[in-house]
Amino acid sequence: MEDLKVVIGSDHAGYEYKEKIIDYLNARNIPYTDIGTHTKESCDYPEIARSVCERVISGKSNRGILICGTGIGMSIAANKVRGIRAALCSDTYSARVSRAHNNANVLCLGERVIGEHLALDIVDIWLKTGFEGNRHKRRVDMIE
Ligand code: RB5
Repeated sequence: MEDLKVVIGSDHAGYEYKEKIIDYLNARNIPYTDIGTHTKESCDYPEIARSVCERVISGKSNRGILICGTGIGMSIAANKVRGIRAALCSDTYSARVSRAHNNANVLCLGERVIGEHLALDIVDIWLKTGFEGNRHKRRVDMIE
């Protein structure tokens, strides 16, 4: 596994999974920064998405994880940030290939869409999978 520096954030609708994913990171000694939110009080996901993405772009973190109710708002907001390749994943195959082919640097999850154990499997695979480069690098470069 590469040297991971994770930044994680959620809105109120993704708060519980954020805490579960933090448990996963702690159990594996994977360093992370928790951007919030820190309660279940309603908040605005675009602000969280921007904070997480800015940290990835700055290089302080190299992988971002964003959770909201569907994952959709977070992924739309994250992909507005130049240099962010955010992948909304609801299955492990997409999680793997979003890293191997798309070099996704942000993972988005929907707490109201997928179960907790699937979400944790997706995180596990997404963090462990490297970018394959080669023809995929050419395509990612075209996006950039
Ligand atoms: C919050 O109710 C919900 O709209 C938000 O978490 C997210 O699903 C938006 O895309």
